[in-house]
Amino acid sequence: MSAGKRVRPVPETVTVTIDGTPGQAWAGQSVTAVLVSAGIWPLRRNPVNGQLRGPFCGMGVCLECEVTIDGRPGSRSCTAHVTDGMDIRTATHG
Ligand code: FES
Repeated sequence: MSAGKRVRPVPETVTVTIDGTPGQAWAGQSVTAVLVSAGIWPLRRNPVNGQLRGPFCGMGVCLECEVTIDGRPGSRSCTAHVTDGMDIRTATHG
């Protein structure tokens, strides 16, 4: 058994933009995790009744977490992982 100290690797940080505001995230975090940790829960509006919707299943099934990522609307934030320079747009207006 080694008597050496354990060294925890420091996660890499990346810069993302959320609705035009730049911020930091850990590389590899899910986009949902980044949004929720930033205090953003409603991510879109239901197209039928206009109700605000947010992440529900967290595994790519319910589609309630859809946002626009790097210009691609309808991107599931729970299955997407942040990368440096990612542009994330929620759709809660309108
Ligand atoms: S939270 Fe359900 S698909 Fe993303």
